[in-house]
Amino acid sequence: MSGLLIKNGRVVDPASRVDGIRDLLIVGGKIKDIGSRVGGGGTKAIDAKGMLVLPGLIDMHAHLRDPGRPDKETIATGTRAAALGGFTSVCCMANTEPPIDNPAVVKYIRNKAETEGVVNVYPIAAVTKGLKGEVLAEMGLMLEEGAVAFSDDGNPVMQADMMRRALEYSRQFGVPVISHCEDKNLSLDGAMNESALSTAIGLPGIPALSEEIMVARDIRLAKEYGKVHIAHVSSAKSVELVRQAKRKGIPVTCETCPHYFSLSEEAVREYDTNAKVNPPLKSEQDVKAVIKGLKDGTIDVIATDHAPHNIEEKNVEFNLAAFGMVGLETALALILTKLVDTQALTLKKAIEKLTVAPAKILNLDKGSLRIGADADLIIVDPKAEWTVDAAKLASKSRNTPFHGWKLKGKVLYTIVGGKVVVRDGKLLS
Ligand code: DOR
Repeated sequence: MSGLLIKNGRVVDPASRVDGIRDLLIVGGKIKDIGSRVGGGGTKAIDAKGMLVLPGLIDMHAHLRDPGRPDKETIATGTRAAALGGFTSVCCMANTEPPIDNPAVVKYIRNKAETEGVVNVYPIAAVTKGLKGEVLAEMGLMLEEGAVAFSDDGNPVMQADMMRRALEYSRQFGVPVISHCEDKNLSLDGAMNESALSTAIGLPGIPALSEEIMVARDIRLAKEYGKVHIAHVSSAKSVELVRQAKRKGIPVTCETCPHYFSLSEEAVREYDTNAKVNPPLKSEQDVKAVIKGLKDGTIDVIATDHAPHNIEEKNVEFNLAAFGMVGLETALALILTKLVDTQALTLKKAIEKLTVAPAKILNLDKGSLRIGADADLIIVDPKAEWTVDAAKLASKSRNTPFHGWKLKGKVLYTIVGGKVVVRDGKLLS
């Protein structure tokens, strides 16, 4: 069987504690061999000298907008954006139209991913029917159909008893409930972080407390009823609540997103709707606390919260604009530029939060380059500088606040199940 040999790259695989120059041989879609001199007579070879060879990244939080909003994204475009960004696996959130709240929609996504997707897609199913917080969705049936976790993301599960029942139920299956922490009674119709800046520029604020009060509630519920994963942590107090909970052994994990360590609320001063996101960007102190949380392991995962929106929903008055920004194509470079280059985080820790950590939380057999694993991997030029150009994104949507930013770190190859999807930084299909 012919294979693919990747030679001389710096292989960083936190799951198998490898960091060094290695050759890596792929045969039949799997990692066949890895070592300092791997033979592969007759196989095609890629010289990865000076490059990083990493497990394919896993994004445990993205909105692919399929079914229902092909004007914003589809599985075809979203997975291509993912591949360009170095993600070989993407978990898609349930707030589609219709939502992923029954087994038929889970099946639809799996089929569509099979035929149109270029990376692995794992549906995250709704906790409640219609994401309304009123009636539990058919959780067990959706897991049978291939869902990997539950979340009403985009909306909180406001009723504590509903969250309690979701946790009790999902505990039986060993999967987490992913919590969008927002108390709607506090966020109301806010559009940005509540602060001196929101007062100064005349926008309705969302107090950080809206996130924190739900983080506190869900930690308490996790203590009694089982595994909670807190989505998009953005505030210093939320980080501290998770830190304390972990110390007490409560089964809680959490993620943050590149925008929460790359941007503060200052990004909305000029009313840039591309920086309008939920939870809203916070103060400089919060940004520092998020970075500290990443560093000390309180924050397990970095996920994108890729949230594509079309121009009609963004090119409007700030108060009316949709929440969210695209993130799949900029996440890795932001992490390398803002966290690794600045030595806030080691490369190993950063890659851990993009591979082995999400795989573990979601029980996915992914995120490692050990022999026998699926050959999902990427080759990255860590020194290549590039400028984000919203017009050139593979995503269907352009809503990035990072347009014009110079970043370091470019994905050259993305290989999914042994198949080259991105070569020399360009999509092959
Ligand atoms: O900014 C956001 N956009 N936050 C969310 O929680 C949902 C997401 C979306 O679906 O657009």
